[in-house]
Amino acid sequence: MYRTHTCGELRLEHCNQEVTLSGWIKSVRKFGSITFLDLRDRYGITQLFFNESITALLDTNPLGREFVIQAKGKVIERSNKNKELPTGDIELEVSAFSVLNKSEIPPFTIEEETDGGDELRMKYRFLDLRRDPLKRNMELRYRVSRAARNFLDSASFMEVETPMLIKSTPEGARDFIVPSRMHQNQFYALPQSPQLFKQLLMVAGYDRYYQIVKCFRDEDLRADRQPEFTQIDCEMSFIHQEDILNTFEAMTKHIFQDVKGVVFEEAFPRITYDEAMRDYGNDKPDIRFEMKIKELTTMLCGADATMPHEFGVFKDAESVFAVAAAGCSEYTRKQTDELTEWVKRPQIGMKGLVYIKVNVDGSIKSSVDKFFDEEKLKQIAASVQAQPGDLILLVSGERNLTRKAISELRLEMGNRLGYRNPDVFKPLWVVDFPLFEYDPEEKRYMAMHHPFTSPKPEHLAWMMDESKYGAIKANAYDLVLNGTEVGGGSIRIFDKQIQERMFKALGFSEEEAQEKFGFLLSAFEYGTPPHGGIALGFDRLCSLLGGSESIRDFIAFPKNNAGKDMMLDAPGPIDDKQRKELGL
Ligand code: AMO
Repeated sequence: MYRTHTCGELRLEHCNQEVTLSGWIKSVRKFGSITFLDLRDRYGITQLFFNESITALLDTNPLGREFVIQAKGKVIERSNKNKELPTGDIELEVSAFSVLNKSEIPPFTIEEETDGGDELRMKYRFLDLRRDPLKRNMELRYRVSRAARNFLDSASFMEVETPMLIKSTPEGARDFIVPSRMHQNQFYALPQSPQLFKQLLMVAGYDRYYQIVKCFRDEDLRADRQPEFTQIDCEMSFIHQEDILNTFEAMTKHIFQDVKGVVFEEAFPRITYDEAMRDYGNDKPDIRFEMKIKELTTMLCGADATMPHEFGVFKDAESVFAVAAAGCSEYTRKQTDELTEWVKRPQIGMKGLVYIKVNVDGSIKSSVDKFFDEEKLKQIAASVQAQPGDLILLVSGERNLTRKAISELRLEMGNRLGYRNPDVFKPLWVVDFPLFEYDPEEKRYMAMHHPFTSPKPEHLAWMMDESKYGAIKANAYDLVLNGTEVGGGSIRIFDKQIQERMFKALGFSEEEAQEKFGFLLSAFEYGTPPHGGIALGFDRLCSLLGGSESIRDFIAFPKNNAGKDMMLDAPGPIDDKQRKELGL
């Protein structure tokens, strides 16, 4: 028997028992003729005590960090207790040990805080995974999946697997492509999500489906994006949007309570896409703090500006947006300069920043005093509902870019003011997304969610009129948590004619639609129930629950920011034989 107990298990009540432990050596501390050793496994750390005669064996049998050993001995009470360790009241007085396997000196220390850089730790991920912070993340991930499964199981959802080698389907991102050996010059695509399969399962009558499933998207990576990631993917039949929102709100609440002990008493707030864009400048608002943005275009831009002024920058701009940062009126010149530099960074892309200080004593001071007298500044302050003590920040320029900039600036001020505490959770639903989004580069409308999303019934007629496309709203919704899109879904089209109409609106010819989606259109001829669903980003949910920005820390073997697996050194070349076989 390699072990009778784990390294996290022994307590005072085990004293005087003869036990055997196996694990990795975390540290060896030799004091003259005796030795203390910390032995680690998945469950914890136990101190081993080597008396003189056992210590003497180390001369011929030296031990080092990360060696795997087995130790037998008696559990004894420690005279010097360690309150930090659950096993800190006892130690194992070793009577015999054996080395099961040696270890090289690890390239970084396997401690709570390590000295290894990112790339090095990615290369030796198996060692990094031994560290407590990562182990905790992996455990959390497992608990989230278990909680989701338990919830879905008790609500009659059935897990069904769907294929990984499929045909390219448009879902917005680029596909990963797999060449076929048997059909040369033919390619599979890896699924961006099981979207079409779950809809076909509804046609098959499996009215509550779920799957915790890998998805693949070849897109630019960020802290919350990986090329392969996991979804909790769900679909239901005979439901309305309301049923989906209620079911998955309940699932989210269940997960938070089960994994984190966090109880959401209230229903999640719901706001429309239009409200989110108006008040926060983006469709995934962080509502841990208020600080709503305000568009002042009508007031300040163009020859028809409702407020007369001679400030050319605003006059010539397509739009002006503002936000009032509470309690920041005493920002120094250095601090406002710093913010100006911040908005000028290429990621934000603004040319500059205008500020107005609404001082506590009621006076007002701005960086544009030359163009706006006190009366006008007060009007601006009133329109953004600034209070004494606030610092109003204004940016101007092309509308979408500027709205994005003010939204980022709002978040940045939220960070600076400490409003974005990772231990506070503020979920909400964003509903009524537009069905289409105009792509100025491609000069055509794209599906905002995906091409299988149904328009709101009252906007259905507008599908026949291209000039109305921009106004059509969909039964589509996102679950947002602390400024991150955790999930998205929609009620689907289940009528062949409407689906065909949708493909046409997206610029597919009838032949293309047949070629790409013939199987779906055909399925729609055999009794398709009304249906809809949602997919939650499992990695994102885990990282939020774990209080981290980066989903990488919650994936056992992630890719780096350049999409590389540093450990495998993938992607890599293939040899000529393989290439030939594939006809490449
Ligand atoms: P969507 O594309 O919105 O919807 O994806 C659902 C959720 O998956 C997460 N996500 C990602 N997480 C990590 N890395 C990525 N690259 C990544 N891309 C997306 C997000 C997102 O909210 N089939 C539809 C769902 C449906 O309509 O039912 C879909 O995939 O948290």
